[in-house]
Amino acid sequence: MSNQIRLDVNAMMAEYVGPKGIARAELDAMIPELKKAHAAVEAGRGVDMQGWMDLPYNQQEILARIEAAAARIRKEFDAFVVLGIGGSALGPAAVQQALNHLHYNELPAEKRGGPRLYIEDNIDPERMAALMDVIDLKTTCFNVITKSGGTAETMSQYLIVTDALKAALGDEWKKHILITTSEKKGFLIKIAQREGFETFYIPDGVGGRFSELCPVGLIAAAVTGIDIRAMVAGAKEMDQRCKTDDAFANPALLDAGLMFLAMKKGANMSVMMPYADSLKLMADWYAQLWAESLGKNVTLDGKPCNAGQTPIKTLGVTDQHSQLQLYTEGPYDKVITFLKVEKFRATTPIPHGCDDIPTIAFLGGKSHNQLIEAERQGTEYALFKAQRMCQTITLPEVNAGTIGQLLYFFELVTAYTGALLNINTFNQPGVEESKIAAYAVMGYDSEVHTAKREEMKNRPAPKAEYIL
Ligand code: PA5
Repeated sequence: MSNQIRLDVNAMMAEYVGPKGIARAELDAMIPELKKAHAAVEAGRGVDMQGWMDLPYNQQEILARIEAAAARIRKEFDAFVVLGIGGSALGPAAVQQALNHLHYNELPAEKRGGPRLYIEDNIDPERMAALMDVIDLKTTCFNVITKSGGTAETMSQYLIVTDALKAALGDEWKKHILITTSEKKGFLIKIAQREGFETFYIPDGVGGRFSELCPVGLIAAAVTGIDIRAMVAGAKEMDQRCKTDDAFANPALLDAGLMFLAMKKGANMSVMMPYADSLKLMADWYAQLWAESLGKNVTLDGKPCNAGQTPIKTLGVTDQHSQLQLYTEGPYDKVITFLKVEKFRATTPIPHGCDDIPTIAFLGGKSHNQLIEAERQGTEYALFKAQRMCQTITLPEVNAGTIGQLLYFFELVTAYTGALLNINTFNQPGVEESKIAAYAVMGYDSEVHTAKREEMKNRPAPKAEYIL
């Protein structure tokens, strides 16, 4: 069986789904623009913030270093904690969920690929306390991941954890910290050098949401026993498939063209609906990639715009029972992307029983594998009948190779779509604004933050009548 993921866009097209879909003529008319978008993305390969396009090719040495560190960590530690947020956490979490046991942390040590994994991507005051309740500092390694080296959430976690480690372990504490950060920018690299922490670098041209296939994601994956070489090879395979500017041979380019056309038709939401628990967090990872990359208010030539498409995370079949009603009968403002798994890693037969109740008895002798696919097809049909634009990405199975392909596929779709929208796909000024404002509120006294604090005072005073 081929391990290649496949994109089926029939249900995006008017020929299939009716007039609410995309007419073939609209797609054909876009071909020159698609070729231009492809050329623009290729021209940027490896340049500025497109270093992520080099990752499938330039990490031979780093992969070996990660594997060596992972082997040591597996031997020395019972728990591995990722401290990071946004692009520094969503990828590791998505890959862990996809490629390891669904209850990985609860498995006995001999059945796990490595230490228990915790990904702490928030600063809810209860969260750190909860973590401390379930780990033993003596046998825990903390991977502090921040590209900027100064993100308040991550660095506050660093302060809390290092304080606790020092108290618990004395001089030994430094061996429990692993740093993943920029080699040249930010404060964390300076701290790492001063303290002598083992450190991995996030390449300059790799932004947070494009960083899963560099040490940001590969370390946690390798520590838990995932085949990181197969993941990177999967990304390379997808990159090779997408070298052509023929949209009917390049799945990411075709998808970008259709998403762009769908947006023009008013589909300002992108629903990601994996039919597999293992892919549930892939929808979270995609949400950041799509939202932060495409949500921009100025074009590359300086014209105001409000570009973007709101990503929505769902899970099949669970969310059939919460959101599907809206998707079939609500506004025509969505594209639904199914992630379908051809061969699950387990088979769950449904035993016979309740023979006197035909509506239940018919399930006996079938399997959950059949039922989940039948439910997916049922949803697909309901959406077809309601003339909703849908597409399906099929993974022959969920393995390191298909996950590498899928991650890189979405990164390329995002880059091409950004080029079609003529926006800067790789910056995040809206996120930076909130980071500066939060530091200002916390009382940080740099010139920028003091000015921000003053600026924030200019908001209209809240009226009491609007607060109940
Ligand atoms: O994609 C991005 O750039 C952001 O979501 C960042 O990943 C996030 O803000 C965390 O930043 P950093 O890795 O610098 O701590």
